[in-house]
Amino acid sequence: MAACRLNNEDALQSSEVIRLPDGRGFVLRPLHSDDLAALQRAFRRLTPEEVELRFLHQSRELPAFIEDEVRALDPARDSVFVLEDSAGEIRAVADLHVEDSGTPEAEFGLIVGQAIAGHGLGTLLMQHLLAEARRRGIALRGHVRRDNARMLELCHALGGSASVEPDQPELLSVRFPP
Ligand SMILES: CC(C)(COP(=O)(O)OP(=O)(O)OC[C@H]1O[C@@H](n2cnc3c(N)ncnc32)[C@H](O)[C@@H]1OP(=O)(O)O)[C@@H](O)C(=O)NCCC(=O)NCCS
Repeated sequence: MAACRLNNEDALQSSEVIRLPDGRGFVLRPLHSDDLAALQRAFRRLTPEEVELRFLHQSRELPAFIEDEVRALDPARDSVFVLEDSAGEIRAVADLHVEDSGTPEAEFGLIVGQAIAGHGLGTLLMQHLLAEARRRGIALRGHVRRDNARMLELCHALGGSASVEPDQPELLSVRFPP
């Protein structure tokens, strides 16, 4: 597991160093608009399966709507955390985006690249998203493929509940209450 654990009330304001038992270190920090090129490189390193699991469709390039969001990051609506390796490359991203609908809810997404998965970093990033949602007083909701046992297990362990999406039988809607 990652060497660092979060107090439930904490929300990430600046950056912190995460060190794995094998010695690899990562900086956990908020994403900035000038990270777009690094984010595009990170996306190109993903396997087709990872892209499918995270974005629920195939793409070889970072989707244009995400590029637009990154260029116009709005702290009132967006919180994005990344893990950066010692070479300054982005290896994991966790994000929440407050919906326009006016409901106290945000859509979340999470991806940890295969090279660093399985060490508790996904759990750590999800804890940061949950801390941020608590700070904002909102629920988190995300769509997860039914066959994504790893993500479903991670969400369940952190208190999320999954329900069926009536129109999309291959997906589950995972919700964390405020
Ligand atoms: C899902 C994902 C975020 C997990 O990241 P990670 O860094 O490997 O997560 P963790 O190491 O914290 O492991 C999370 C938990 O998954 C569970 N898990 C691990 N391997 C598993 C497997 N093969 N099958 C089922 N559950 C598994 C375990 O409960 C684990 O916790 P534990 O190691 O404490 O027992 C990562 O695999 C990923 O990015 N996948 C592709 C994108 C994606 O699916 N995103 C989710 C949609 S938003």
